[in-house]
Amino acid sequence: KSGEDAWASALRDEIRWLSRVGLVQPNRTHFANHAGERYLFSKPHVFEADMHDANVRRRVPALARFFEDAAAALPDAFAEADTRAETNHSNRTSPKFPPLSLLARGDAARAVKLQHNKGFGGCFPCHYDNPGGTSRRLLTCILYLNPGWAEGDGGELVLTPFLSRSVRVRPMHNRLAVFYSDRVCHSVEPARAERFCLTVWLDGVAGSVNTSEDTRLSLPASVLTDPDAAAETLRLSAAQRSLSRAVYAEAYRESLTRCMAGAAGCDEMLASHDAAVEATRGNRPLAALVEALRERKAFAEMGGDMEV
Ligand code: FE2
Repeated sequence: KSGEDAWASALRDEIRWLSRVGLVQPNRTHFANHAGERYLFSKPHVFEADMHDANVRRRVPALARFFEDAAAALPDAFAEADTRAETNHSNRTSPKFPPLSLLARGDAARAVKLQHNKGFGGCFPCHYDNPGGTSRRLLTCILYLNPGWAEGDGGELVLTPFLSRSVRVRPMHNRLAVFYSDRVCHSVEPARAERFCLTVWLDGVAGSVNTSEDTRLSLPASVLTDPDAAAETLRLSAAQRSLSRAVYAEAYRESLTRCMAGAAGCDEMLASHDAAVEATRGNRPLAALVEALRERKAFAEMGGDMEV
Protein backbone atom coordinates (compact mmCIF):
# COMPACT_ATOMS: atom_id res chain seq x y z
CA LYS A 1 0.00 0.00 0.00
CA SER A 2 2.73 2.47 0.85
CA GLY A 3 4.42 1.61 -2.47
CA GLU A 4 1.16 2.35 -4.28
CA ASP A 5 0.82 5.62 -2.39
CA ALA A 6 4.35 6.53 -3.45
CA TRP A 7 3.39 5.83 -7.08
CA ALA A 8 0.31 8.06 -6.72
CA SER A 9 2.49 10.75 -5.18
CA ALA A 10 4.88 10.53 -8.15
CA LEU A 11 1.92 11.10 -10.52
CA ARG A 12 0.85 14.06 -8.44
CA ASP A 13 4.32 15.58 -8.42
CA GLU A 14 4.48 15.30 -12.21
CA ILE A 15 1.13 17.05 -12.64
CA ARG A 16 2.29 19.79 -10.29
CA TRP A 17 5.46 20.17 -12.35
CA LEU A 18 3.51 20.36 -15.65
CA SER A 19 1.32 23.00 -14.10
CA ARG A 20 4.34 25.01 -12.99
CA VAL A 21 5.98 24.99 -16.43
CA GLY A 22 2.76 26.05 -18.15
CA LEU A 23 1.81 22.77 -19.89
CA VAL A 24 -1.58 22.67 -18.13
CA GLN A 25 -4.23 24.93 -19.65
CA PRO A 26 -7.50 26.48 -18.44
CA ASN A 27 -10.49 24.17 -18.97
CA ARG A 28 -12.36 24.53 -22.29
CA THR A 29 -15.91 23.32 -22.38
CA HIS A 30 -17.87 23.08 -25.63
CA PHE A 31 -21.55 23.70 -25.18
CA ALA A 32 -24.46 23.73 -27.63
CA ASN A 33 -27.68 25.33 -26.41
CA HIS A 34 -31.25 24.21 -27.14
CA ALA A 35 -31.23 26.25 -30.37
CA GLY A 36 -28.08 24.46 -31.59
CA GLU A 37 -25.82 27.50 -31.13
CA ARG A 38 -22.31 26.46 -30.13
CA TYR A 39 -20.23 28.10 -27.42
CA LEU A 40 -16.81 27.58 -25.89
CA PHE A 41 -16.52 28.35 -22.19
CA SER A 42 -13.98 27.95 -19.45
CA LYS A 43 -14.86 26.38 -16.09
CA PRO A 44 -13.36 28.68 -13.44
CA HIS A 45 -10.33 27.35 -11.50
CA VAL A 46 -10.06 24.16 -13.56
CA PHE A 47 -6.77 23.50 -15.39
CA GLU A 48 -6.19 20.46 -17.61
CA ALA A 49 -3.87 18.69 -20.01
CA ASP A 50 -4.65 15.95 -22.50
CA MET A 51 -2.17 13.07 -22.25
CA HIS A 52 -2.51 12.32 -25.97
CA ASP A 53 -0.21 15.33 -26.39
CA ALA A 54 3.28 13.81 -26.78
CA ASN A 55 4.80 17.15 -25.80
CA VAL A 56 3.15 16.76 -22.38
CA ARG A 57 4.16 13.09 -21.93
CA ARG A 58 7.82 13.46 -22.90
CA ARG A 59 9.06 14.79 -19.55
CA VAL A 60 6.72 12.92 -17.18
CA PRO A 61 7.59 9.18 -17.07
CA ALA A 62 5.07 8.07 -14.43
CA LEU A 63 2.19 9.80 -16.23
CA ALA A 64 3.41 8.46 -19.60
CA ARG A 65 3.38 4.91 -18.20
CA PHE A 66 -0.11 5.45 -16.79
CA PHE A 67 -1.25 6.63 -20.22
CA GLU A 68 0.23 3.52 -21.89
CA ASP A 69 -1.40 1.17 -19.37
CA ALA A 70 -4.79 2.75 -19.97
CA ALA A 71 -4.74 1.49 -23.59
CA ALA A 72 -4.89 -2.23 -22.76
CA ALA A 73 -3.81 -3.21 -19.23
CA LEU A 74 -6.62 -1.23 -17.61
CA PRO A 75 -9.48 -2.52 -19.82
CA ASP A 76 -7.99 -6.06 -19.49
CA ALA A 77 -8.07 -5.79 -15.69
CA PHE A 78 -11.67 -4.51 -15.65
CA ALA A 79 -12.88 -7.18 -18.09
CA GLU A 80 -11.23 -9.94 -16.06
CA ALA A 81 -12.61 -8.70 -12.74
CA ASP A 82 -16.09 -8.38 -14.24
CA THR A 83 -15.98 -11.92 -15.69
CA ARG A 84 -14.87 -13.26 -12.29
CA ALA A 85 -17.73 -11.46 -10.53
CA GLU A 86 -20.14 -12.77 -13.15
CA THR A 87 -18.99 -16.38 -12.60
CA ASN A 88 -19.53 -15.97 -8.86
CA HIS A 89 -23.09 -14.85 -9.51
CA SER A 90 -23.84 -17.13 -12.45
CA ASN A 91 -27.43 -17.75 -11.37
CA ARG A 92 -28.23 -14.06 -11.45
CA THR A 93 -30.78 -13.35 -14.18
CA SER A 94 -31.91 -9.83 -13.31
CA PRO A 95 -31.13 -7.01 -15.78
CA LYS A 96 -27.62 -5.60 -15.50
CA PHE A 97 -25.34 -2.80 -16.58
CA PRO A 98 -23.27 -3.59 -19.71
CA PRO A 99 -20.48 -6.16 -19.18
CA LEU A 100 -16.95 -4.81 -19.14
CA SER A 101 -15.92 -7.37 -21.74
CA LEU A 102 -17.26 -4.67 -24.11
CA LEU A 103 -14.29 -2.39 -23.37
CA ALA A 104 -12.19 -1.59 -26.44
CA ARG A 105 -8.37 -1.60 -26.58
CA GLY A 106 -5.88 0.62 -28.34
CA ASP A 107 -4.56 4.14 -28.64
CA ALA A 108 -7.79 5.71 -29.87
CA ALA A 109 -10.01 3.79 -27.45
CA ARG A 110 -9.05 5.77 -24.40
CA ALA A 111 -8.55 9.36 -23.33
CA VAL A 112 -6.52 10.44 -20.30
CA LYS A 113 -6.72 13.93 -18.90
CA LEU A 114 -4.97 15.34 -15.90
CA GLN A 115 -6.61 18.01 -13.84
CA HIS A 116 -5.43 20.60 -11.36
CA ASN A 117 -7.95 22.72 -9.45
CA LYS A 118 -6.55 25.94 -8.09
CA GLY A 119 -8.34 28.57 -6.05
CA PHE A 120 -11.82 28.37 -4.64
CA GLY A 121 -14.36 26.53 -6.77
CA GLY A 122 -13.27 24.25 -9.57
CA CYS A 123 -16.49 22.25 -9.57
CA PHE A 124 -18.65 20.58 -12.20
CA PRO A 125 -22.45 20.69 -12.60
CA CYS A 126 -24.63 17.57 -13.05
CA HIS A 127 -23.75 15.80 -16.30
CA TYR A 128 -23.06 12.50 -18.03
CA ASP A 129 -19.56 11.96 -19.42
CA ASN A 130 -21.13 10.37 -22.48
CA PRO A 131 -24.06 12.63 -23.37
CA GLY A 132 -24.99 10.66 -26.53
CA GLY A 133 -24.12 11.42 -30.13
CA THR A 134 -20.80 10.15 -31.45
CA SER A 135 -19.18 9.52 -28.04
CA ARG A 136 -17.94 5.94 -27.54
CA ARG A 137 -17.18 6.32 -23.83
CA LEU A 138 -18.29 3.35 -21.76
CA LEU A 139 -16.42 3.69 -18.48
CA THR A 140 -15.03 6.67 -16.53
CA CYS A 141 -12.18 6.14 -14.06
CA ILE A 142 -10.94 8.96 -11.84
CA LEU A 143 -7.75 8.55 -9.82
CA TYR A 144 -7.51 11.09 -7.00
CA LEU A 145 -4.11 12.39 -5.98
CA ASN A 146 -4.62 14.36 -2.76
CA PRO A 147 -2.56 13.03 0.16
CA GLY A 148 -3.48 15.91 2.44
CA TRP A 149 -7.22 15.90 1.73
CA ALA A 150 -9.27 16.64 4.85
CA GLU A 151 -12.97 16.98 5.60
CA GLY A 152 -14.05 20.48 4.56
CA ASP A 153 -11.62 20.69 1.62
CA GLY A 154 -14.51 19.92 -0.76
CA GLY A 155 -14.07 18.56 -4.28
CA GLU A 156 -16.14 15.44 -3.57
CA LEU A 157 -17.53 13.51 -6.56
CA VAL A 158 -21.30 13.01 -6.21
CA LEU A 159 -22.57 10.02 -8.20
CA THR A 160 -26.33 9.81 -8.65
CA PRO A 161 -27.45 6.52 -10.20
CA PHE A 162 -30.89 7.19 -11.70
CA LEU A 163 -33.62 7.25 -9.02
CA SER A 164 -31.18 5.94 -6.40
CA ARG A 165 -29.39 7.44 -3.43
CA SER A 166 -26.38 9.57 -4.29
CA VAL A 167 -22.90 8.46 -3.30
CA ARG A 168 -20.49 11.18 -2.18
CA VAL A 169 -16.91 10.11 -2.91
CA ARG A 170 -14.14 11.89 -1.01
CA PRO A 171 -11.20 12.65 -3.35
CA MET A 172 -8.68 10.82 -1.16
CA HIS A 173 -5.16 9.98 -2.25
CA ASN A 174 -4.76 6.94 -4.52
CA ARG A 175 -8.53 6.31 -4.64
CA LEU A 176 -10.00 5.22 -7.99
CA ALA A 177 -13.67 6.02 -8.68
CA VAL A 178 -15.20 4.03 -11.57
CA PHE A 179 -18.64 4.47 -13.14
CA TYR A 180 -20.50 4.02 -16.44
CA SER A 181 -19.99 7.14 -18.58
CA ASP A 182 -23.39 6.93 -20.27
CA ARG A 183 -25.62 6.07 -17.33
CA VAL A 184 -24.36 7.65 -14.12
CA CYS A 185 -25.17 11.34 -13.68
CA HIS A 186 -22.60 13.06 -11.50
CA SER A 187 -21.32 16.41 -10.27
CA VAL A 188 -18.28 17.69 -8.39
CA GLU A 189 -18.56 19.84 -5.27
CA PRO A 190 -16.66 23.14 -5.06
CA ALA A 191 -13.09 22.67 -3.81
CA ARG A 192 -11.65 24.82 -1.06
CA ALA A 193 -8.16 23.37 -1.39
CA GLU A 194 -5.83 22.56 -4.26
CA ARG A 195 -6.91 19.31 -5.86
CA PHE A 196 -5.35 16.88 -8.36
CA CYS A 197 -6.80 13.99 -10.33
CA LEU A 198 -6.34 11.88 -13.45
CA THR A 199 -9.38 10.91 -15.50
CA VAL A 200 -9.47 7.98 -17.93
CA TRP A 201 -12.37 7.43 -20.31
CA LEU A 202 -12.48 3.93 -21.78
CA ASP A 203 -14.48 3.39 -24.96
CA GLY A 204 -16.72 0.44 -25.71
CA VAL A 205 -16.17 -1.72 -28.80
CA ALA A 206 -17.93 -0.59 -31.99
CA GLY A 207 -21.69 -0.80 -31.76
CA SER A 208 -21.80 -1.28 -27.99
CA VAL A 209 -22.37 2.32 -26.88
CA ASN A 210 -25.06 4.84 -27.87
CA THR A 211 -27.14 2.30 -29.74
CA SER A 212 -30.59 3.52 -30.81
CA GLU A 213 -31.92 1.87 -27.65
CA ASP A 214 -29.52 4.02 -25.58
CA THR A 215 -30.18 7.33 -27.25
CA ARG A 216 -33.90 7.33 -28.02
CA LEU A 217 -36.62 7.04 -25.44
CA SER A 218 -38.47 4.23 -27.18
CA LEU A 219 -40.29 2.62 -24.31
CA PRO A 220 -43.37 0.65 -25.37
CA ALA A 221 -46.69 2.33 -24.48
CA SER A 222 -47.34 -0.33 -21.84
CA VAL A 223 -44.13 0.67 -20.05
CA LEU A 224 -44.58 4.43 -20.56
CA THR A 225 -47.89 4.31 -18.72
CA ASP A 226 -46.55 2.02 -15.99
CA PRO A 227 -44.20 4.20 -13.91
CA ASP A 228 -42.80 1.26 -11.95
CA ALA A 229 -41.83 -0.61 -15.11
CA ALA A 230 -40.45 2.59 -16.68
CA ALA A 231 -38.39 3.37 -13.57
CA GLU A 232 -36.91 -0.13 -13.48
CA THR A 233 -35.99 0.02 -17.17
CA LEU A 234 -34.51 3.53 -16.98
CA ARG A 235 -32.42 2.84 -13.87
CA LEU A 236 -30.19 0.59 -16.00
CA SER A 237 -30.61 2.15 -19.42
CA ALA A 238 -28.63 5.01 -20.97
CA ALA A 239 -32.01 6.23 -22.28
CA GLN A 240 -32.43 7.82 -18.83
CA ARG A 241 -30.34 10.70 -20.26
CA SER A 242 -33.32 12.05 -22.22
CA LEU A 243 -35.33 12.52 -18.99
CA SER A 244 -32.59 13.17 -16.44
CA ARG A 245 -32.62 16.96 -16.79
CA ALA A 246 -36.38 17.16 -16.23
CA VAL A 247 -36.39 14.63 -13.36
CA TYR A 248 -33.41 16.30 -11.63
CA ALA A 249 -34.24 19.86 -12.77
CA GLU A 250 -33.37 21.57 -9.47
CA ALA A 251 -30.08 19.69 -9.01
CA TYR A 252 -28.97 20.62 -12.55
CA ARG A 253 -29.88 24.28 -12.01
CA GLU A 254 -28.31 24.57 -8.56
CA SER A 255 -25.07 22.82 -9.52
CA LEU A 256 -24.76 24.92 -12.68
CA THR A 257 -25.26 28.16 -10.73
CA ARG A 258 -22.73 27.08 -8.10
CA CYS A 259 -20.06 25.92 -10.55
CA MET A 260 -20.22 28.73 -13.08
CA ALA A 261 -20.63 31.31 -10.29
CA GLY A 262 -21.55 34.10 -12.69
CA ALA A 263 -18.67 33.34 -15.11
CA ALA A 264 -19.13 33.88 -18.85
CA GLY A 265 -21.57 31.30 -20.19
CA CYS A 266 -23.51 30.85 -16.97
CA ASP A 267 -26.66 32.63 -18.22
CA GLU A 268 -26.63 30.80 -21.55
CA MET A 269 -26.30 27.43 -19.83
CA LEU A 270 -29.14 28.20 -17.40
CA ALA A 271 -31.40 29.39 -20.23
CA SER A 272 -30.64 26.23 -22.19
CA HIS A 273 -31.38 24.07 -19.15
CA ASP A 274 -34.73 25.81 -18.52
CA ALA A 275 -35.72 25.46 -22.19
CA ALA A 276 -34.92 21.74 -22.19
CA VAL A 277 -36.98 21.12 -19.04
CA GLU A 278 -39.84 23.20 -20.44
CA ALA A 279 -39.82 21.18 -23.68
CA THR A 280 -40.11 17.89 -21.77
CA ARG A 281 -42.89 19.22 -19.56
CA GLY A 282 -44.76 20.45 -22.63
CA ASN A 283 -45.05 16.88 -23.90
CA ARG A 284 -48.07 15.52 -22.05
CA PRO A 285 -47.27 11.75 -21.83
CA LEU A 286 -43.64 12.53 -20.96
CA ALA A 287 -44.65 15.13 -18.37
CA ALA A 288 -46.78 12.54 -16.55
CA LEU A 289 -43.91 10.05 -16.60
CA VAL A 290 -41.44 12.68 -15.36
CA GLU A 291 -43.74 13.51 -12.43
CA ALA A 292 -43.97 9.83 -11.49
CA LEU A 293 -40.18 9.48 -11.71
CA ARG A 294 -39.69 12.61 -9.62
CA GLU A 295 -41.70 10.98 -6.82
CA ARG A 296 -39.33 8.01 -6.90
CA LYS A 297 -36.33 10.35 -6.93
CA ALA A 298 -37.69 12.21 -3.89
CA PHE A 299 -38.17 8.88 -2.09
CA ALA A 300 -34.56 7.84 -2.84
CA GLU A 301 -33.30 11.20 -1.55
CA MET A 302 -35.01 10.75 1.81
CA GLY A 303 -32.18 8.49 2.91
CA GLY A 304 -29.60 11.22 2.29
CA ASP A 305 -26.32 10.73 0.44
CA MET A 306 -24.09 7.76 1.14
CA GLU A 307 -20.59 8.87 2.09
CA VAL A 308 -17.50 6.91 1.11
FE1 FE2 B 1 -17.72 13.97 -15.57
